[in-house]
Amino acid sequence: MFATRLAARAAEIGSCLDEAMAGLGDYPVHEGMRYATAGGKRLRGFLVMETAALFGIGTAQSRWPAAAIEALHAYSLVHDDLPCMDDDDLRRGQPTVHVKWDEATAVLVGDALQSLAFELVAREETHPDPAVRLRLMAGLARDAGAQGMVLGQAQDIAAETAPAPLTLDQITELQANKTGALIRWSAEAGAILGQADPAPLRHYAQALGLAFQIADDILDVEGDAEKAGKRLQKDAEAGKATFVSLLGLDGAKARARALVEEAEAALDPYGDKADGLRDAARFVISREM
Ligand code: IPE
Ligand code: IPE
Ligand code: MG
Ligand code: MG
Ligand code: MG
Repeated sequence: MFATRLAARAAEIGSCLDEAMAGLGDYPVHEGMRYATAGGKRLRGFLVMETAALFGIGTAQSRWPAAAIEALHAYSLVHDDLPCMDDDDLRRGQPTVHVKWDEATAVLVGDALQSLAFELVAREETHPDPAVRLRLMAGLARDAGAQGMVLGQAQDIAAETAPAPLTLDQITELQANKTGALIRWSAEAGAILGQADPAPLRHYAQALGLAFQIADDILDVEGDAEKAGKRLQKDAEAGKATFVSLLGLDGAKARARALVEEAEAALDPYGDKADGLRDAARFVISREM
């Protein structure tokens, strides 16, 4: 069952993060790092581990880049929740880092989690060949940065005050950066570890990433805040450009379903071995959190 498989991977990633942060002290920044990386679905880490398994790369290696992407993702959420960004007080059912501590701590927690992510990918356990680790790190730098996630966040903020609503192409580009880039890195990581062609996984991840963000936008409109663990119905109020604002709920759902089919089809070259990834695609649009 998919939920069991995801939970097992999530626990492995959690223990890797514990190991990675065991040497930290007890400054608020250290406590905040542990706090911000606790919980979550760990979907990005799951993608790293599942795609690595396609190429015979085991957990002893893949848990490190999986922990890395979850640290980087956690950083993006801590900063996304800041008052100067989405101004959210709840994340994963708990007070956000700047509410629990303060804004300075939240900025530092994000900064430190981003650094930690690169440290973890660079570890020898990730891959014996330093050239492979370098490829992963360079890709992560690009996908997290000003051509990837950071660009998407900037486009998201700019859209709030844009004179005209974004077009479908513009929203697609925004979301491909904001959410898609880290998901794409996660799914391609397996092929890079396995020194194989990442093209089919890139195609899978592009469709999956978009479906994932459409599902997030749909959850914002009609989700259950208790289950989601974050405040909902904020996008429209903030004037966010989302798939729902452009296509309506039914249109957004249809688009998400089509993308899941596309994601599943992209996995054909891997046969049954990719069933966990097919399940992940279906999970992404049926999830309640
Ligand atoms: C939330 O990501 C932010 C988006 C990119 C939409 P997730 O829904 O993966 O959050 P967690 O990690 O499970 O809490
Ligand atoms: C956050 O997107 C994306 C990143 C942190 C890169 P959202 O702002 O839609 O995420 P939620 O809804 O707060 O989880
Ligand atoms: Mg945001
Ligand atoms: Mg947000
Ligand atoms: Mg959202």
